[in-house]
Amino acid sequence: MSNSDRSRPADTSAHLDRAEDIPAALRDEDPDRANFTNSSVTSTRLPLGLIALGVGILVAGGAIFAVLSTTRANRDSFTTPTVAASDPKNPDSSTANSQPADVDNLLNHLSYEQAPDGELVSIGGDYRLRKAAASKFQAMVSAARSSGINITTISAFRSVEDQKRLFFGVGAARGQQPTKRAEVSAPPKYSEHHTGYAIDIGDSTVPATNLNQNFDTTPVYKWMKANAATYSFELSFPKDNIQKVSYEPWHWRFVGDINSLETFYKAHNLKGK
Ligand code: DAL
Ligand code: ZN
Repeated sequence: MSNSDRSRPADTSAHLDRAEDIPAALRDEDPDRANFTNSSVTSTRLPLGLIALGVGILVAGGAIFAVLSTTRANRDSFTTPTVAASDPKNPDSSTANSQPADVDNLLNHLSYEQAPDGELVSIGGDYRLRKAAASKFQAMVSAARSSGINITTISAFRSVEDQKRLFFGVGAARGQQPTKRAEVSAPPKYSEHHTGYAIDIGDSTVPATNLNQNFDTTPVYKWMKANAATYSFELSFPKDNIQKVSYEPWHWRFVGDINSLETFYKAHNLKGK
């Protein structure tokens, strides 16, 4: 609900506070009130007129009270959902760019189903993506190549088992605690790579930038920034992303059909992303 919607009842009550805004129907049905302002009123009619005026004011007052009460009730019912939607223990929980407390996450990563085997197709070598993502990715690679840009694949679909090795195996080899490891790698069951929609890419002309944040200086990255949306790919972890995952300019995801869109945006349940 917009602020202007919310302010409407308050404006109405301010309007009714003014005596001259007693509804016209009430004024017009009170002939004695009209006579009271007439200089030809006789002394015998004056008390009756005053009584009628008093009754009229009481009726009008009652009407104003009823309208104000209804207005206040309506105003309260407008604000109640907003209050209920935020977490009282965390006043910032209703602001944009904050992760709602009830999003299912582990170390800031969101849970994803592993793509069914039958949905996955090869995009070259051992790399696989979901069918819809694969055809768009290959069209994107061809378009880039015709502009002299060489997109290479570093990683695509990964099973939960693959992710176990990456998270626990590589983490142990590097002596990383889970919190540290999770800055760059999702725990198993929590990687976008399980969906078959996510891909890590590199630039074959500058392989030293592979999986490095300076990949964003490469011709491939610049081409992707300008063209990826045409093929329904977007960056999953830009700088200062809402999940607080480390910046990954090489990691892109397909969001070009309803299943991929639901997979990522319903999982996030984000406000205003
Ligand atoms: N590097 C990303 C977060 C992953 O492991 O899925
Ligand atoms: Zn990745």
